Amino acid sequence: MRYNVVKGAKYIIEDSEHVIKKPETHKNKWHMVFGNNNPICLELGMVRGIFIIEMAKANPNKNFIGLEIDGSQTATAVKNIGTKKLKNLKIICADASNIAEYFGKEIDTIYLTFSEPWPKNKMRKKDLLL
Ligand SMILES: C[S@@+](CC[C@H](N)C(=O)[O-])C[C@H]1O[C@@H](n2cnc3c(N)ncnc32)[C@H](O)[C@@H]1O
Repeated sequence: MRYNVVKGAKYIIEDSEHVIKKPETHKNKWHMVFGNNNPICLELGMVRGIFIIEMAKANPNKNFIGLEIDGSQTATAVKNIGTKKLKNLKIICADASNIAEYFGKEIDTIYLTFSEPWPKNKMRKKDLLL
């Protein structure tokens, strides 16, 4: 897959109300983040968010979280959400290796499609937030 570098990704992510900045502070409390007890679905490696955004729009009675390690792809996902707030969608820019720090037993479904592990020698999130 080809990945574009988005200039200012850091600021796009910081400014978005869809993005959860410190996911570890919500472990076991994600239903409070959404303000309801609806099922929570998590996508690991959402890239530009196309799948998770469409799922959130089509299923207003479920909650969705898209997680992506790459800052540029996360910023593009934020742009793809558009200006209309999706109350049942949250975005996290983080390493899926750490999901045990972010989530307890509150996740009902995990989507893991066409995963491509992040190479150890590739730049990490902090390097891509240009
Ligand atoms: C091939 S793409 C996934 C395609 C997408 N799920 C789909 O079905 O179209 C793999 C994605 O996983 C992300 N990724 C790889 N390792 C990751 C990690 N440790 N944590 C979070 N995301 C990761 C990559 O940055 C990339 O955006």
